[in-house]
Amino acid sequence: MQAPAKLRSATRRVPLGELRVLEPACGPGIYLSHFGPGSVGLDSNQEACSGAEAKGLDIRGCDLDKEGWSAAVDGDPPWQAAWLCDVLMHVADPAAFLAELTPTLAPGAPVLCVEWCLPNPGLFAGLRRFLCMRMPGMSAILSEPTHLRTYHLGEIEALLQCAGLRVEATWLHSFEGKPLARIAEFLTRSFWPVRTILARKA
Ligand SMILES: C[S@@+](CC[C@H](N)C(=O)[O-])C[C@H]1O[C@@H](n2cnc3c(N)ncnc32)[C@H](O)[C@@H]1O
Repeated sequence: MQAPAKLRSATRRVPLGELRVLEPACGPGIYLSHFGPGSVGLDSNQEACSGAEAKGLDIRGCDLDKEGWSAAVDGDPPWQAAWLCDVLMHVADPAAFLAELTPTLAPGAPVLCVEWCLPNPGLFAGLRRFLCMRMPGMSAILSEPTHLRTYHLGEIEALLQCAGLRVEATWLHSFEGKPLARIAEFLTRSFWPVRTILARKA
């Protein structure tokens, strides 16, 4: 099966298909099945775990909101990468979650964080927020009850940095491979909600 577009965009920068990846809050394993051998997913939802297990994936039951969640991967070698797709909006304390993630990673390991974001404060913030709220999918994201909060892009970058991860790049993956992608990205990048952030353990 072809990898989802978000993952294809990320693998142009990081060869996730060759790395042992930790995927917290992996759901039924849409992404997990595309990572390298030895990759592991974590999720608290029993149905998601059963679905991923049925595909032969290594998924472990784990509540990322509980202190000590990383005990679920105790004994595994340090992860070569982490994939966090729509995760930070689900966890109650993102700083505590990320603080436990970093020590599980190998030095230099990339962390790819895909998240729906509100525009940063600054010039024309009201207009950019207005446009952001009208982008496809954004109102559904904001009204979904399991989404505990939505961040500004800058807040996510700050959370990653506080956890000892160096932010290397942020990009819009939605337009990649489409006609006029560069123009679309240029015109929308100040308010487009969904993006990928690449950070790396020092
Ligand atoms: C929007 S889904 C994302 C799944 C996957 N990352 C993807 O993008 O396909 C959110 C997932 O987070 C899981 N989740 C939410 N809160 C969690 C928690 N505290 N601990 C572990 N998993 C959690 C849910 O069970 C769900 O599978």
